[in-house]
Order: sequence, then C-alpha cells, then structure tokens
Amino acid sequence: MGVPPRRPVAVPFGRNYVPTWAFDHIKYYNGGSQIELYLDKYTGTGFQSKGSYLFGHFSMQIKLVPGDSAGTVTAFYLSSQNSEHDEIDFEFLGNRTGQPYILQTNVFTGGKGDREQRIYLWFDPTKDYHSYSILWNLYQIVFFVDDVPIRVFKNCKDLGVRFPFNQSMKLYSSLWNADDWATRGGLEKTDWSKAPFVAAYKGFHIDGCESSVEAKFCATQGKRWWDQKEFQDLDSYQWRRLAWVRSKYTIYNYCDDRKRYPIMSPECKRDRDA
Ligand SMILES: *[C@@H]1O[C@H](CO)[C@@H](O)[C@H](O)[C@H]1NC(C)=O
Repeated sequence: MGVPPRRPVAVPFGRNYVPTWAFDHIKYYNGGSQIELYLDKYTGTGFQSKGSYLFGHFSMQIKLVPGDSAGTVTAFYLSSQNSEHDEIDFEFLGNRTGQPYILQTNVFTGGKGDREQRIYLWFDPTKDYHSYSILWNLYQIVFFVDDVPIRVFKNCKDLGVRFPFNQSMKLYSSLWNADDWATRGGLEKTDWSKAPFVAAYKGFHIDGCESSVEAKFCATQGKRWWDQKEFQDLDSYQWRRLAWVRSKYTIYNYCDDRKRYPIMSPECKRDRDA
C-alpha cells in the first residue's frame, strides 16, 4: 500500500471543525491553526467536524497532556450518528509522570464493538506533535501512528462481519476525566492539583468524501486516491512494520484473548493469514 499523499495540513480549525461543548475550555493560536483543549475539575471539552464523510483519510496532529496525566483520556475518532452505529477510535490513556501512555483502538460496526487493542508508543507522545490517522475505504480500515500502521481491520463481509460502508461518519475529539478506568484499570486517580490538563492539536485538514448524514454512498466513490489498488492492502514493508508493533508494543489484543473469545473472530484470522 502506498503512503497517503502528504497534503498541506495548515488548515485553520474553524474551516472543518466546531467546538462541541465547554467552548471556554478551548484556546486558539496562530489564527486557529493550533488549538489547546483544557480539562479541569469542572469539565473537559471537545470538538467535531462540520461535515460527515463516507471513506477517506483522516489525520490529526496531537501533542498529548504532559506530566501527570493519570486519569485523563484524549480521544480522536470517527463515528456515525445513529443507533446501529459505526465507530473507529483512537483513545490515549494518560499516566503518572514518566509512566507510559496507552493507545487503545477500537472498531464498532453496526453497534458492535468489543474489539479493543492496546499498545505502548515507541516515543513520548507529550514531547512533540505526532500524526494519528485513519484510512477508510471499502477494503480496509487502517490506523496509523505517523507513517506506521498499528492496526488493520479488513472488510470481512464475506465472512459475515459487518464493515462500515453505508453510513457517513463525523470526526470527533475530546479530552475528559476517566479515572474510574483509564490508568492501571482505575487504580490511579486524576490529581486535580495538577489541573488544568492540556492537549494540543494542529493539522485540521480532512481528506474525505463529504456527504449528508443520510447519504448511503458518495458521488465520487471508487474514484478517489484512497480507493485505488495501492490502498486496498498494506504492502510488505507495512505488514512488517505492523508485525513489529504487534510483537514489541502490544499489551492487549482482543484477537488473542481466548478467555473472552474462545473462538477467534473471523476478521482476526484473516489478517493473521495475510
Ligand atoms: C501506566 O504505567 C503503569 C506502570 O508503568 C503501566 O502498568 C500502565 O500500563 C501504564 N498506562 C496506563 C494507561 O495505565
């Protein structure tokens, strides 16, 4: 698979996004090309895309809450709007100073989730901006950290697994308190004396097929760069990098959880065989 084209990403926040709640907990810099989300003991905050999208490549550059971030969660995800919902999630679970963040990913299709994977990152995500992106086409959903694929969810419709294809999704991001579960399973609580907790964002470019919330397909479907052959599967270099993430950084993968899933889910089998 090719590397998604590098496009200009210096797009102001307001072109593609709006704040969702607690508007006074978002700060804007450089004409809105960078923002910060604030979490304090009163509230967190978040934002969402103005448009809805069916397929595309969605990326965000994020610098996560530095220092003591235990109990906080920063999320970046795509979600459809209805009850049988589809969702593609990045969730960053904070930690005590010097302890590693966890990146949890999940995929919901037709309202069914329970497909968590958890990894540590190979860098400190609070030091610099890194790009977190999702490629979504009819063939696969790929999660990238910078250019490294950390997860693939193949279209296994032929094996009876639902794949998101007919509901547009919006992008969302938020920073909130989740100290009941986030850090060491909820043992480490948020230290409010360290508030406010701040996550920084830039790169508000969106490369998707914009459609109405009700749209079942997109007018240019099949013709965009992400639909082309080279984006229908990972290439061998990308499979090797994914294998590297799996062997060195993975803490939890529902595909390997035989207690919870005595029979391996079909989508897990498929990417083992790839
Ligand atoms: C936080 O640090 C502890 C100790 O190093 C580790 O076990 C845990 O996986 C880290 N991350 C989270 C989110 O709990």
